[in-house]
Amino acid sequence: MTANLITLTDPRSAAAEAFRALRTNILFAGLEQPIRAFAVTSPAPEDGKSTTLANLALTMAQAGHDTILVDADLRRPAQHTIWNLPADSGLTTMLLDDAAMQNPPLHTVAENLRVLTSGTLPPNPADLISGKKMEQALEALKSKAEYVLFDAPPVLAVTDTALLASKLDGVLLVMKAGKTRRDYAQRAKEALERIHVRIIGVALTNAPQDDNMRTYYGVKK
Ligand SMILES: Nc1ncnc2c1ncn2[C@@H]1O[C@H](COP(=O)(O)OP(=O)(O)O)[C@@H](O)[C@H]1O
Ligand SMILES: [Mg+2]
Repeated sequence: MTANLITLTDPRSAAAEAFRALRTNILFAGLEQPIRAFAVTSPAPEDGKSTTLANLALTMAQAGHDTILVDADLRRPAQHTIWNLPADSGLTTMLLDDAAMQNPPLHTVAENLRVLTSGTLPPNPADLISGKKMEQALEALKSKAEYVLFDAPPVLAVTDTALLASKLDGVLLVMKAGKTRRDYAQRAKEALERIHVRIIGVALTNAPQDDNMRTYYGVKK
């Protein structure tokens, strides 16, 4: 487990409180139109997607919601590092092996929280993500938990995220204060809207506050 899990290591911090606010907003956003499965994305690498999603997943689990966190960034997976898990069997195992599709290699990391790591990285991530097997995997995972959260690559860099998001109930868009360029933020939003993906929220990481892990949240009107 790494220092990035501030909701675990310091649940009374301002950052942990911000993650609880993020959770509440997502739960409320789901009242109008159900949100059972969503992905995180951002315009670029290193914006804080994986860290944000790991903390959000933990916060949802802490509130009693049975949650599965899936590493669907099949280019630069990070969840196995964050949770200190083996990455050799995971999502891609599920997509390639019928037995794993029925019985996915989930790791319980906390009460109400299971993690499916990336599995061995394939040469063709976009094909795997867009295939029929991915739809089967999504249904299988949704049948096992209340919420299924997907870590994903940057939306402007590769097509994987758009392909994945179009199968889900929405995305959480992460922006990094002081780094994400305005035009990239705009392009990321447009790329998702073009394919009718619902943006369920925007999380700002690296906000210039006294606590360097603060994350703020805004609901999209
Ligand atoms: N809210 C935050 N504030 C400050 N640093 C952060 C925050 N979230 C992540 N980081 C740091 O930024 C780096 C990239 O984070 P990561 O979550 O892996 O980004 P991504 O998944 O977008 O590539 C990591 O070193 C992580 O510790
Ligand atoms: Mg990442």
